[in-house]
Amino acid sequence: MTVTWSIEDAEKGGYPHYMLKEIMEQPRVLYETYTGLMSSRELEKAAEILASADHIFVTGAGTSYHAGLVFAYFMARIARRPVITFISSEYLAYRSLDHSNSALVAISQSGETIDTLQAVRSFKSSGGRVVAVSNVVGSTIPRESDTTVYTRAGPEIGVAATKTFLTQVLALTSIALALAVHTGSLTKAEYTEAMRELRNASHAASSGIDRSIRLVELLASSLRSKNNIYVLGRGLGVPLAYEAALKIKEVSYIHAEAYPAGESKHGPIALVEEEFPVIFVGVPPEDELLEKLQSNVMEMKARGASTIVIGTSSYRELEGVDFYIDVGNYSEILAPYAVVPPFQLLAYKLAVMLNRDPDKPRNLAKTVTVE
Ligand code: AGP
Repeated sequence: MTVTWSIEDAEKGGYPHYMLKEIMEQPRVLYETYTGLMSSRELEKAAEILASADHIFVTGAGTSYHAGLVFAYFMARIARRPVITFISSEYLAYRSLDHSNSALVAISQSGETIDTLQAVRSFKSSGGRVVAVSNVVGSTIPRESDTTVYTRAGPEIGVAATKTFLTQVLALTSIALALAVHTGSLTKAEYTEAMRELRNASHAASSGIDRSIRLVELLASSLRSKNNIYVLGRGLGVPLAYEAALKIKEVSYIHAEAYPAGESKHGPIALVEEEFPVIFVGVPPEDELLEKLQSNVMEMKARGASTIVIGTSSYRELEGVDFYIDVGNYSEILAPYAVVPPFQLLAYKLAVMLNRDPDKPRNLAKTVTVE
């Protein structure tokens, strides 16, 4: 008998790469994150710590930092509490503050990232309390924190964080909703209703995958020869754009840069020439953002850029768009689950087309435990 597959192949569940397997797993793991949060007291414990703090900080590295930016956005929008965000390797900027009335939300998939661990230790040594958001039970950051909200995404083997990002977003959005009850910006009934809505994160992710899987192939074929890509968004679209650009550069090695769309004329538009690809992230609230994004599309089009939109159905109204991926219409709290998978699939497709190994990008380790 000849064995034609390895243990590794079997673990990939029939997919050619872990990254693709982990992208496709998102609808299932999001459901597990959700049910895990609903059947534990993790959200209440986290909300109690944050509610008693005068100042709330959030930190993480790479993808986890981007999840932190989504958290800060929802904390302002839903819980009406401002949050100070910082990249964990920059913790020294805050080391001389007295943190005795502060709380830190420390986000780390692995729970072992040295920069985030140092931020946690520095914060604790000056009297702060720490809420960890992690995927690995018993890892160092949860052990050293006051409480932990687990993301329950299961093991992630691909170096690029995919399913762990959206499960972090789900956990963090739930924390913001739970805190909103303490701050009085949501009633208990409104909180229950919003949590019920979040249950559909899993369906939103399925829709994002199903609606984009073919189109992403076409898009990747047209982008594979490019040296640079801009990814632009507004509001909630900004952290999602950062995450999209990180994913593209990390696995395809194409330079992708994200920034808030309104920043174009403050410098970056100088690079734009004929056929420069600019991808726009279209998210709610459309009544506030669509018109503004329209002028950003037009300013890029006027310089000959190739304009692409990955967004909710309302963005179909935009003029001057060359390529459009419509992920369906979703509320603000559900939009990330539909919008992010097309970007992950695009990054994956680009890597495969360019003969890069998406599971093991050069120069990168899954977990960075040394400075
Ligand atoms: C993302 O695709 C990267 N692998 C990387 O940015 C990662 O998110 C970062 O190193 C943080 O890891 P952690 O969540 O395990 O702390």
